[in-house]
Amino acid sequence: MSDSYPSHLQVQLEAVLRSCPLVPVIAIERPEHALPLGRALYEGGIKVLEITLRTPHALGAIRELRAALPDAWVGAGTIASVEDYRAVEEAGAQFVITPGSTPELLDYGLKAQAPLLPGVATLSEIMQGMQKGYRAFKFFPAEVAGGVSALKAFAGPFPALKFVPTGGITAEKASAYLSLPAVPAVGGSWLTPKDKMAQGDWQGITDIARKSLTLLEG
Ligand code: 3PG
Repeated sequence: MSDSYPSHLQVQLEAVLRSCPLVPVIAIERPEHALPLGRALYEGGIKVLEITLRTPHALGAIRELRAALPDAWVGAGTIASVEDYRAVEEAGAQFVITPGSTPELLDYGLKAQAPLLPGVATLSEIMQGMQKGYRAFKFFPAEVAGGVSALKAFAGPFPALKFVPTGGITAEKASAYLSLPAVPAVGGSWLTPKDKMAQGDWQGITDIARKSLTLLEG
């Protein structure tokens, strides 16, 4: 097992995630949506934003939100290559999330400024990440890859690892994951429904954020 990874970066990321256990997976379809959406989520109590590289507006949105919301944590998701990683770091991303893990991305993440949360779905992928020194992972696609039971099983051999499950999670399902000690946060797109974004219903998005956080207290 490698001790070379600057694991303080992942530890810092874990602390940030614990302070905001719901991470919206965001796809910006229109550049003018970035700011009101980020503000609506922030207003609703969501301080960590994952802007995915699924649209051409992602880099601009990261730049804009970093400037507008200095107390939020603005990161990038759906990073599939080292080129993407470099581009989002340059735009100011404070963390990077990948759907899966490649040796190139795992290696690059070791020396990057923005901490990497590599995507895993199997024990073999977890072990490959661990060999590089990673201790926190995105578990994707969570619901189809075994959900809460799979994470409980992973914690058997590897009790020190942390996971951010994403994929198929809803406000109602979040607390079952968050009750596991291995889970500091969960991610999902339910916090930013496409119809509400298309209508510019920012108040509706603030309401979903508040309601989702309230459900966790339940
Ligand atoms: C992701 O990339 O993390 C997923 O697309 C989010 O999954 P969800 O849309 O099922 O929440």
